[in-house]
Amino acid sequence: MMRVFRFMRVAQCSNIADFRAMARRRLPSPIFHYIDGAADDEVTCRRNTEAYESCDLVPSVLAGVETIDMSTTVMGQRLAMPLFCSPTALQRLFHHDGERAVAKAAEKFGTMFGVSSLGTVSVEEIGATIATPKMFQLYFHKDRGLTNSMIERGLAANFDVLALTVDTITGGNRERDLRTGFTSPPRLTPASLVSFALHPAWTANYFARERFSLPQLKDYVKEGSSVAISVGEYFSTMLDQSMNWKDAENVRVKWGKPFCLKGIMSVVDAKRAVDIGATGIMVSNHGGRQLDGSRSPFDQLAEIVDAVGDRIDVICDGGIRRGTHVLKALSLGAKACSGGRLYLFALAAAGQAGVERALGNLRGEIERDMKLMGCRSVKELSRENLRFR
Ligand SMILES: Cc1cc2nc3c(=O)[nH]c(=O)nc-3n(C[C@H](O)[C@H](O)[C@H](O)COP(=O)(O)O)c2cc1C
Repeated sequence: MMRVFRFMRVAQCSNIADFRAMARRRLPSPIFHYIDGAADDEVTCRRNTEAYESCDLVPSVLAGVETIDMSTTVMGQRLAMPLFCSPTALQRLFHHDGERAVAKAAEKFGTMFGVSSLGTVSVEEIGATIATPKMFQLYFHKDRGLTNSMIERGLAANFDVLALTVDTITGGNRERDLRTGFTSPPRLTPASLVSFALHPAWTANYFARERFSLPQLKDYVKEGSSVAISVGEYFSTMLDQSMNWKDAENVRVKWGKPFCLKGIMSVVDAKRAVDIGATGIMVSNHGGRQLDGSRSPFDQLAEIVDAVGDRIDVICDGGIRRGTHVLKALSLGAKACSGGRLYLFALAAAGQAGVERALGNLRGEIERDMKLMGCRSVKELSRENLRFR
């Protein structure tokens, strides 16, 4: 099996596991494990994907499916496919094109992508070059000047949706990062130097190309850009642990455009999101990277949709590895799905070409699976299509 992976090229990557294997070969190990890893025993991370296996699709036939429509409208944004790229940090560490590659690939597929507060390309550059719907992800910092400046910059750069992340009130216990010593920017230790030496192509790109920076933050804080810090420590020390519902509402008012809370898991909180006027919620546990032992988004989806699905757009974020996972979440009432690792491994493996291939594979799967389900439009998906075991 390893020999097959060793010589695999992008065009031969049929699924996310293939891209993960390629990313593993290309990246210094602390960086691979930062993407792949999760909190504590990584139980929640595994469950996020396994949850989709707890039910089965029940297809219909003879439905005339020569053309199908997989477009959806979520938080006022029309997406050509019902899956988008969640915001993720530090993308230029994974591939030198970073967010530029992801943004261009998402644009090609007519879908949305997120740029993180901890992004490595500026919102101004992305806003000026990319036309597809754009989400800016906000971390609520203790430094209110920084938090406000990011909201203003996202608005000026014409981002369409603001996602306030609410599940990182303190850093998750990411033991792989503790073991490898992963920091942003990468700290040069004897172990990381060995890892860099073993991955000369990555290392040459990292040192020879545009200097690493966090443009959303660098005028306010040095941590992450020029002072090395782990992501967990960043959350614990830089973000405001007093953040509450009133703060979230104030952010929504200041933003004034489609607004969502990223990291909602309970019905009670979903209802409060409606109360503060949010346009959407991303049902998410941060890819299992924060509270290990928390429930998976897919397991939690039905009760949240039942409670608020008629008043707010519900997005199922995390664990998606196949088109059928998307169909199952939409059948339960999600307006769209989103994910991180599903495009990050591909970014690390091959930049924009990799992300395009990964999104193309998933779009192909969604299209094929809709046809096999006898489903002409995503609106036709419903709980009738699903049986839990
Ligand atoms: C490497 C990595 C970095 C991430 N960075 C952020 C971030 O900066 N902000 C954020 O709100 N979520 C971040 N996330 C969480 C993703 O937005 C998303 O919720 C998660 O990846 C979903 O799980 P999945 O990877 O199984 O699809 C990150 C996830 C990964 C894997």
